[in-house]
Amino acid sequence: MRPITVWDLPTRLFHWILVVLIGLAWWTERSNHMDWHMLVGYAVLALLIFRVIWGFVGSDTARFSGFVRSPLAALRHLSRLARREPDTEVGHNAAGGWMVLLMLALIGVQAGTGLFANDDIMTEGPLMHLVGKDRSDWLTHIHGLNFTLIQAVVVLHVLAILVYLVLKRQNLLRPMITGTKAMPAGMAPPRLRSPLLALATLVVAAGIVAWIVRL
Ligand code: HEM
Ligand code: HEM
Repeated sequence: MRPITVWDLPTRLFHWILVVLIGLAWWTERSNHMDWHMLVGYAVLALLIFRVIWGFVGSDTARFSGFVRSPLAALRHLSRLARREPDTEVGHNAAGGWMVLLMLALIGVQAGTGLFANDDIMTEGPLMHLVGKDRSDWLTHIHGLNFTLIQAVVVLHVLAILVYLVLKRQNLLRPMITGTKAMPAGMAPPRLRSPLLALATLVVAAGIVAWIVRL
């Protein structure tokens, strides 16, 4: 066995900053700091756009083509869930890949509907004027419902990681922090992309959000 880097730094930073920002988005809304809520929402949107681009140009394990497999492969993977076996997965497993897509989509809906939302008092999303009050109210409703869905999926996500630890004795959390995993010698490590490319991608993503917000 030898350690190989399975998660590049940009993907790991994306994950943990996203976790903090989702928590902040919830808290700023609860405490009625709506200016901050919107800023945090823009940051989530920029992060999400970054991740989608990184899913095409990033390191092998970050690429959608590297982890989106057929639903059948996902079911096959789930049917072996209770089997205790060594972790030889470089990147997301076949079932985890779908979970990642679902989470990214839900967060996209959350940030997207937020742009059109209003709170009936003084907060208006920057794109509310494009749809008018009635449709904005409806999208605000979806914004609230969708967050409940996000909470449920995040609980499932964390439970799944616990299940891998308990049933399979596989620690998925450590690689998401350190980037490395012990793998059988001879296993080819994934190709990693430069963090500078990630930085440029983030700048593009932030630029897209700035453009949307000024629209
Ligand atoms: C993606 C990250 C975001 C998360 C996790 C999030 C979460 C939430 C939550 C939990 C609520 C309370 C919903 C309810 O009371 O049922 C809320 C309300 C709201 N959010 Fe967001 N939001 C995000 C992004 C945004 C963005 C980008 C904007 C606008 C730029 C925005 C604007 C609003 C507004 C105006 C409300 C008030 C709605 C009301 O009073 O009913 N949100 N958000
Ligand atoms: C707001 C909460 C969370 C959200 C929205 C979230 C979302 C995500 C996303 C989108 C990915 C895919 C990463 C990528 O390829 O870019 C992921 C992976 C992962 N997350 Fe989370 N996460 C959350 C909380 C957590 C927590 C609390 C933990 C710790 C138990 C955790 C542990 C992991 C691990 C270990 C992976 C990699 C799984 C694998 O090996 O395939 N996440 N998460």
